[in-house]
Amino acid sequence: MMKIILVAGARPNFMKIAPLMAAFKERSEITPILVHTGQHYDRAMSDLFFHELGIPEPDVNLGVGSASHAVQTAEIMRAFEPVVLAEKPDAVLVVGDVNSTIACGLVAVKLGVKLIHLEAGLRSFDRTMPEEINRLLTDAISDLLFCSEQSGVENLRREGVPEEKIHMVGNVMIDTLLKNREKAERSTILDDLGVNDRPYAVVTLHRPSNVDDPAMLGRIMGALEEIGREMPVIFPVHPRTRAMLEKWRENYGDTIPNSAEFGSCPNNSSVSLQLIEPLGYLDFLKLMAHARVVLTDSGGIQEETTILGTPCLTLRENTERPVTVEMGTNRLVGSDPARILGAYREVMAGNGMAARTPPLWDGQAARRIAEYIIGG
Ligand code: UD1
Repeated sequence: MMKIILVAGARPNFMKIAPLMAAFKERSEITPILVHTGQHYDRAMSDLFFHELGIPEPDVNLGVGSASHAVQTAEIMRAFEPVVLAEKPDAVLVVGDVNSTIACGLVAVKLGVKLIHLEAGLRSFDRTMPEEINRLLTDAISDLLFCSEQSGVENLRREGVPEEKIHMVGNVMIDTLLKNREKAERSTILDDLGVNDRPYAVVTLHRPSNVDDPAMLGRIMGALEEIGREMPVIFPVHPRTRAMLEKWRENYGDTIPNSAEFGSCPNNSSVSLQLIEPLGYLDFLKLMAHARVVLTDSGGIQEETTILGTPCLTLRENTERPVTVEMGTNRLVGSDPARILGAYREVMAGNGMAARTPPLWDGQAARRIAEYIIGG
């Protein structure tokens, strides 16, 4: 019997943890213990996902919350260490690239506990991204590295990680998508937002490089307004982005686009830009599945749109998930408004983005991980 602590901290972790918890519970050889660090804590950023995805209540919630990177990482480490000491697990499994990932990874290896990293090897080669630092460091100290795409395997090899530690297993996030796709179709979100049977765009933005600089955010908002003249733009606003938009409004007064009112639906004006609260998993999945185009700076959404076949414009200069560009519907467009609008026009003109399914994105990744862990 193996005892494994699974760590979940921030929103993009939850859809990765859900199929793992299910696959581990199916196997009598594994006892999973779920630790939530509390990095994300709002209902819309956390509890809703547990509920919708059927993730069991965490065994432990560290309740750490938001802070600077140093303080958040340190607080997670401080709170996680006694849990590992008390539970004495055979392994700690961390997913993705958030601060909770590296914090708990460090605690595990310093206590001599085997560390498993899921979604290993992804590289944007941009060290100004906090996530890139988290990815590099977590991979460097992990004992078992599970990759979601071939680029991850190759990056790890190049970095000198021994072959026997690396396993290509596919994408657990897609396990969750495939499992919930039908259920998501029952969501009423399209009617709720008034976009049933009409083309619309979906936007998410939260990367510090896009939202923390008011001038940058302003330029992107200008491009979204342009799109909003042609079709409704639905923009569920991440708390970080919301705080920046509010600050921007105070600082820059009436330069903020008139249409950018939280919760408003200015369909009667010439621009339809709907800034709404963050959505749950099922509503957002339905929204992406039926969108004409998605504009985002998220990592996971690049993968989800690839499987849904929805054109995706990624408002970044790089991606740590190159398979979504090579095989999927993703295109890197940066944050320059002219480039964003140019790419948008190409999508509208129907310029080719035929998607193929990347290898092993088949809904079975979590089962393969359970097999490897038990077998190895
Ligand atoms: C974190 C991850 C990022 C991931 C993103 C997904 C790191 C370094 N970053 O970024 O990789 O893509 O989550 O959402 O780990 N806040 C709330 N409620 C919450 C959580 C956050 O209001 O439940 C606000 C707080 O003001 C906080 C800010 O959002 O300061 C940012 O949260 P934080 O967890 O620091 O980083 P994210 O930008 O969410």
